[in-house]
Amino acid sequence: MSDGSSFYITTPIFYVNDVPHIGHAYTEVAADVLARWHRQSGDDTWLLTGTDEHGQKILRTATANGLEPREWADRLVASAWKPLLETVDISNDDFIRTTDERHEVAVTLFLQKLYDEGHIYAGEYEGYYCVGCEEYKQRDELDEPLSGEYQGQLVCSIHSRPVEILKEKNYFFRMSAFQQRLLDLYESRPEFVQPESVRNEIVQFVRQGLSDLSISRSSFDWGIKVPWDPSHVVYVWFDALLNYTTAVGYGTDRELFERRWPAYHLVGKDIARFHAVIWPAMLMAAGLEVPHKVFGHGWLLVGGEKMSKSKLTGIAPSQITDTFGSDAFRYYFMRAISFGQDGSFSWEDLSARYQAELANGFGNLASRVIAMLQRYFDGVVPSPTTAASTEAEIAVQRSVADAASAAHAAIDRFAIHDALAAVWSVVDELNGYITEQEPWALAKDEADRERLQTVLYTAAEGLRALAVLLSPVIPKATSRLWAALGVEAALGGVTAQSLRDVARWGQLPAGVRVSQLEALFPRIDAAVAS
Ligand code: ME8
Ligand code: MG
Repeated sequence: MSDGSSFYITTPIFYVNDVPHIGHAYTEVAADVLARWHRQSGDDTWLLTGTDEHGQKILRTATANGLEPREWADRLVASAWKPLLETVDISNDDFIRTTDERHEVAVTLFLQKLYDEGHIYAGEYEGYYCVGCEEYKQRDELDEPLSGEYQGQLVCSIHSRPVEILKEKNYFFRMSAFQQRLLDLYESRPEFVQPESVRNEIVQFVRQGLSDLSISRSSFDWGIKVPWDPSHVVYVWFDALLNYTTAVGYGTDRELFERRWPAYHLVGKDIARFHAVIWPAMLMAAGLEVPHKVFGHGWLLVGGEKMSKSKLTGIAPSQITDTFGSDAFRYYFMRAISFGQDGSFSWEDLSARYQAELANGFGNLASRVIAMLQRYFDGVVPSPTTAASTEAEIAVQRSVADAASAAHAAIDRFAIHDALAAVWSVVDELNGYITEQEPWALAKDEADRERLQTVLYTAAEGLRALAVLLSPVIPKATSRLWAALGVEAALGGVTAQSLRDVARWGQLPAGVRVSQLEALFPRIDAAVAS
């Protein structure tokens, strides 16, 4: 990775039955941070996101709202799902909808190919189906409540709502034929499914044996028609998973497809099985390469339970960004939760980290350095001198170099929280450096002028490196800092700076003129923040 090679990363495509909550924004932000990091490391990066619009769940929601499903999907995409990307500042390169013609055409080709090659047969499905999950269920995945509204009925253990009992003629994908190849894949490429907890669950599931998968429905018609039998529509997950290939030219643009594919898939662990079992089996059947990786991150919890639309525990992302801004949203979720583990959201924790880490830690560092450059050097970045350099400056340089290499290594493992912690050690190092060197004391004696130049150059150059290292996570604050450092004309924009080269010391040209920096993370009234 990180050598100009392809880095194609995807988020799940979200159901448009409802509006997004912070769980969806969380996946978007994580994918965006990885994409921005790779883009800024010189990789051929592509970030795909989008919406999942077919199937019974969407059809029912639309009908309940008195609209045609396509009309409903159009409204939700325009009013909620695309605006989410603005709300949390996502730099996606594409947005795919499963109702896009490019997608429908390529799904049809894929299906026909599998049918022609004998991977699909007609059969009868008899069993359970949860519309909330859009998933065929086994008896042991259902509960039978002893009281309440659904007493005596079989309910999905995830949605706590009754499942459907289906008896339909369906087409089946011979997924069982791929059991051994899947186990071999997990074995030979341990990084294929991550984190380890999710990998173990997947391996155990596949070891128990795979059945064939029903891939069509005939009792409703909101979906892509099965090409050889238009009385069926394609099962919504079979349709949805294919978005990752149809968006990058599968079936239509061979050159593009070869350039981008395979992908890195970021998903919540709730849907890891679809991505790590069904999806690679589909690709194997079609003779295509499987993804580089399926990473199933943890859940945002509310009161110990997964935040969800169906349980009405969703918090809208704008509830947070309206007060704290999109940078703080991004920083908080990437820093506070070990990526891969579950995490609880709390307003108190968000406010505390905002104040301590963003406002006092980073924001204040930036303001102090700029203010001292203005006060002691009329806003012009001074030259450091070798004669006035000490061990303390070497330590700052080493801290930046160590942080950059630790952050690259962490990003390669998708350990975004570790990358941020590594970068934050530079914030702490620089704050400590300034406290110890006391530039305000040096400024009092003309004899210390060279030393003062060296100290403030070092601090400003440290800020240059921090702006670059943090731009994938807090793009708005870092571009304001970049503007205040006055380096745009000399170096180009902050996102044009190479993360590969970030630790090379001395890139900030002496002589540039800094300008006033409004607080990067202004104080937030405690009353507003809770
Ligand atoms: O499953 N914590 O869509 P979906 C963290 N359309 N992430 C969460 C979350 C939470 N509490 N709640 C949701 C679907 N998410 C399918 C996907 S892909 C080919 C088809 C995020 O709208 C997380 O990424 O139910 C999870 O996997 C996804 O939203 C589910 O979104
Ligand atoms: Mg869901």
